Parts: sequence; structure tokens; C-alpha cells
Amino acid sequence: MKKALVCGAGGFIGGHLVKYLKDKGYWVRGVDLKHNEWQPVHEFCDEFVQADLRDPEIVSSVVSRDLDEIYQLAADMGGAGFVFTGENDADIMHNSALINLNIAHEASKKGVKKVFYSSSACMYPEHNQMDPDNPNCSESSAYPANPDSEYGWEKLFSQMAIDISGKKLIIHNINGDEFVKKYGHKCPIGVNGRNSDNTLYREKVGWVVSRPLIEGMKKTYEWVNKQVKR
Ligand SMILES: NC(=O)c1ccc[n+]([C@@H]2O[C@H](COP(=O)([O-])OP(=O)(O)OC[C@H]3O[C@@H](n4cnc5c(N)ncnc54)[C@H](O)[C@@H]3O)[C@@H](O)[C@H]2O)c1
Repeated sequence: MKKALVCGAGGFIGGHLVKYLKDKGYWVRGVDLKHNEWQPVHEFCDEFVQADLRDPEIVSSVVSRDLDEIYQLAADMGGAGFVFTGENDADIMHNSALINLNIAHEASKKGVKKVFYSSSACMYPEHNQMDPDNPNCSESSAYPANPDSEYGWEKLFSQMAIDISGKKLIIHNINGDEFVKKYGHKCPIGVNGRNSDNTLYREKVGWVVSRPLIEGMKKTYEWVNKQVKR
């Protein structure tokens, strides 16, 4: 039976991931500062540790040698309204970098073979996200670096810091109204301007998109609209 550690198990993606891994027959240890508000994720985990991953001793205790995979999703990440106001930049950089450095150190010390790190589209150069007709978000475009936010800079730094021996996938973000308020219309325009380049996914894991972005966006917006009207 494979053993996985999910950091940030109490969060949005981590909560779904725990369930997914359990369905696949994994033994799962989840770690988070908090429980998940929407579902009893701690009950799905074989072990749930409520603790602070900024603390190196905690990370040393949850990263054990018997782990096959680590999924590092824990971050100071309150969505666009938190990330793009500028007010939380110091916390974002400090907190998330500490977590990532701790995980990188322990994973490499204990010889864990696969570490998944969730980066962000925010680490791509800002100027490549301005034109919805020509977004350039391929991994090879990341340097020379010009991330669109301090959150993006931290992601880029931590990508470097984490010795990834497994699969490196970039999870994309959708910017909200706060961002437009701050930058006006001359700003990276979220998913329109940062449609992901999936060449590396195809090469490394054989994954190809099953439907065009426009179709997925339509379905998402219809769902959001329905929730707002409820
Ligand atoms: N959701 C998105 O659209 C999106 C897009 C791009 C990247 N990402 C990245 O994916 C990851 C997960 O995102 P999410 O949407 O699930 O976020 P989330 O905020 O729902 O989950 C992050 C979890 O990390 C936990 N956490 C924060 N600091 C911690 C600490 N010191 N110790 C232990 N746990 C701590 C939080 O309590 C939270 O439950 C993040 O790294 C985020 O930057 C998400």
C-alpha cells in the first residue's frame, strides 16, 4: 500500500486530494493548521495532524522515511482578495517560504522520492499574461523572471528550493475583481491571458486536455451563477 503525506489537507485542493488518494487505496497522513470547513477531511485521513508546518520540528515528525509521496499544498493563500492587495505580501513570503524550505529539507534528508509542489500561474512573467490572444505560460517562459505578484515570486523561489523528484505540475489561478481594481485594465487578465501551455504535462505524464478552455469556463460560470442565485 502506498503512503502519502498531504500538507494543507484542511484546504480546498488538499481536502479533495485526500479523498482521491483514499479511493485509490493509499494510506494518507494529512497535516493542516485547521480542519476543513466543508467536509470532515480528518476522518478520511488515516492520520490527521493539526499543526504548523512553519515549525521545522513538526515537519521533521510528519515527513517519515516510509512515505512514497508528498503533496505540498500548504500555503498562505487567501485567494485573489488576500494575495493582490499588497497588504499580506510579507506574511505570504515569510510563511509559505518557511513551509516549503522545511518540506524540501526533510524530504531530501529522508529520501522521499516524489514531491508534488503546487505552484501558480502567478509565477509567469506579468508581460506574458496581458494578451488573451497570445498567452505565454509555458514552463520555459518563466525566466527571465517577472512574476505578477510577491505571491508569484515566492512560488518561483520555492519551486527552485524544492528538489522535485516526481512530477512538477503548475496549478492555475483565476484572478478576481480586487486585482482589476489595483491594476486597472492593464493587468494580467487571469485565465484569459494565462491559458496554460500543457506541452510538459503531455510529455511527462501523458495527460492531454479533454475539452477546450471555453467549454470548461462556461460550465464553471453557469455553476457559479446558480450558486449566487440560491
Ligand atoms: N485554488 C487555486 O485556484 C490555486 C491556484 C494556483 C495555485 N494554488 C496553490 O495550491 C495550493 C492549495 O491551494 P488551495 O486553493 O487548496 O488553498 P487553501 O487555502 O484552501 O489551502 C491551503 C491550506 O494550507 C494550510 N496552511 C497554511 N499555512 C499553514 C501552516 N503554516 N501549517 C499548516 N497548514 C497551513 C491552510 O490552513 C489551508 O487549509 C496552494 O499552494 C496554492 O498557492 C491554488
